[in-house]
Amino acid sequence: MKKIKISPSILSADFSQLGNEIKRLEDGGADMIHVDVMDGHFVPNLTIGPPVIKTLRNYTKLPFDVHLMIAPVHKYIKNYAEAGADIITIHPEATDDLKESINHIKELGKKVGVSLNPNTKIDIIKEFFSEINLILIMSVHPGFGGQKFMPEVLVKIKELKKIKDQQNFNFDIEVDGGINFDNSKLAIEAGANILVSGTTIFKNNNGNIKKNIDTLKAS
Ligand code: DX5
Ligand code: ZN
Repeated sequence: MKKIKISPSILSADFSQLGNEIKRLEDGGADMIHVDVMDGHFVPNLTIGPPVIKTLRNYTKLPFDVHLMIAPVHKYIKNYAEAGADIITIHPEATDDLKESINHIKELGKKVGVSLNPNTKIDIIKEFFSEINLILIMSVHPGFGGQKFMPEVLVKIKELKKIKDQQNFNFDIEVDGGINFDNSKLAIEAGANILVSGTTIFKNNNGNIKKNIDTLKAS
């Protein structure tokens, strides 16, 4: 039985206290920290960049699971690697050459993540399955926390899990967007082994992070 990992999204954190919020997540049992980077171009929102990630790096040893919702992405990958990202996840639509960007992340010694938006088919990345460490399935249209989970992506997760098992790939399947206590089990049963959550972890149970992470882990 594969262990379920939780990657809380700091998009829902108190941005005036990000360092302390990251420590709260670590104390609450987070396996990694999901850092949502948005450029106001690829997605209609703007968050943080390398300078902030660099300062946050000193607050925890947990892996930084950096989700780059930026375009063009290729020329900025090195900045995030140097700022302290451990997993660098990019969107295929944000680069002119996915193979080149994947190789670039690997050359920098980082784990490669590729994210599929709800309307993006698995097919566009099938030639890279053996090169990818993590496939991030978006269960919302990227840009904001607190959106509603899109159950139609469960079919895509199941399809991906079937490919992974049948062809012996070992990429992680991470689901991101609208994950809560009612749908987390569905995502896991479909084949996800990493759950991203912002709102549910920071807001449920009066913000009891440990309780919320434990509840998701027990899904
Ligand atoms: C959306 C982000 C997600 C989102 C998750 O573009 O990629 O990580 O913030 O937050 P919740 O769990 O609030 O949907
Ligand atoms: Zn994300």
